[in-house]
Amino acid sequence: MNGIVLYGSFHGTTEYFAQLISNSLGLQCENVHNFNIQDIDLYDFFIIGSAIQKFKFHPAVNNFFNNNADALKNKKIFLFISCYNPLILNDIFSQLNSEIQTSIKISMVLGGKINWKKLGFVEKLLVYGISLIHKVKLKNFDSINLKRVDKFIDKIKKNL
Ligand SMILES: Cc1cc2nc3c(=O)[nH]c(=O)nc-3n(C[C@H](O)[C@H](O)[C@H](O)COP(=O)(O)O)c2cc1C
Repeated sequence: MNGIVLYGSFHGTTEYFAQLISNSLGLQCENVHNFNIQDIDLYDFFIIGSAIQKFKFHPAVNNFFNNNADALKNKKIFLFISCYNPLILNDIFSQLNSEIQTSIKISMVLGGKINWKKLGFVEKLLVYGISLIHKVKLKNFDSINLKRVDKFIDKIKKNL
């Protein structure tokens, strides 16, 4: 079985997870934005990682799913999410069309990281707003847990 790791990341956390996973499984790793869709049939499975902003998938991941629903029908998809809220998975999953949902064999939230210094002005305002509304401290938030990454990799191995 041939697979690839694709990711959509704003500030590098999702890319970091993608590289850990691809190194561990010996797979190629690419920014989903650069993936040549004509290559889709070279792969049997796709490990796809998305950062979440404003309760939505990274736009490049969203486009990948929406534009290729048909081609992805017979592929296995393993989805990981990088965000602060571990409870977001059901909501985010329901944003996908039903065909893609059926192809997704495993989905997991791997944790998130917010490096305040890396954020632009509008992002800081958004994060500040979210932290007030959801009563969570998000400035320099870090919930990365490598044990969860190992668990995700183990689950993938069992489902190939
Ligand atoms: C502007 C902004 C909006 C965000 N919105 C959400 C959100 O709606 N839900 C959530 O769980 N995490 C949210 N986060 C947290 C990010 O998903 C988290 O920091 C993630 O690790 C970022 O991944 P990246 O470094 O690959 O971009 C937000 C972060 C930023 C900067």
